[in-house]
Amino acid sequence: MKNPIIVALDVPEASAALTLAEAVAPAVGAFKIGKELFVSAGPDIVKRVRDTGAAVFLDLKFHDIPNTVAKAVASATRLDVQMLTVHTCGGSTMLERALEGANEAAEQTGNEAPLILGVTVLTSMDESDLNEVSVNKTPESQVIHLAQMATGAGLKGLVCSPKEIAPLREVLPAEVKLVTPGIRPAGSETGDQKRVMSPADAVQAGADWLVIGRPIYAADHPREAAEAILDSLN
Ligand code: C5P
Repeated sequence: MKNPIIVALDVPEASAALTLAEAVAPAVGAFKIGKELFVSAGPDIVKRVRDTGAAVFLDLKFHDIPNTVAKAVASATRLDVQMLTVHTCGGSTMLERALEGANEAAEQTGNEAPLILGVTVLTSMDESDLNEVSVNKTPESQVIHLAQMATGAGLKGLVCSPKEIAPLREVLPAEVKLVTPGIRPAGSETGDQKRVMSPADAVQAGADWLVIGRPIYAADHPREAAEAILDSLN
């Protein structure tokens, strides 16, 4: 496995993001750019983070009509991101069009098509939140349902919580990549994360990539924190 650490650049501005990215790039596999940073810094931040040599995971969680999502994914592919997220509850047609948008833009530009990751049930939602939007299932069964629908539509990757890794591994094709936040090295602060797993346990359970934010960017020495996590995996 190559370096599975994705550092979440959860900072509000380009300058802070680039300082962090340049400091830790040699010790990590990718950087996650989410809504806060992308909306404040613009698409240029993707290029500047790519210049550190690391891959970029653009976490904008697209969810719209199929045509709009296909075009958004095509634009992200032109920006040369390596991973991006879409909401699986947009349905299989939307997911198929997302894949087409990536493949078509990849062909036109010569960039590699990004790995499109499906988001199932947000971990902020419990059963009563699902009921409110007329989903009368437990979060666990809805996660499995959406994951199978999404991989049936052709997706080759999903974002999931640590506790979902093992049940998803039981039902999904082995080729499907699982990307997991909620990772905490032993002894680090959990913050607002309620169900956490150590990096080594998550990889052992079947995660391919680990999204790690505060344990790296809020550490006194972010590069050393990333290297220690990498060492714990070997
Ligand atoms: O700082 P921390 O390691 O908790 O950061 C985790 C990152 O993963 C954040 O960017 C957070 O938004 C994201 N994330 C998460 N839980 C989810 C989905 C995404 O923590 N279910």
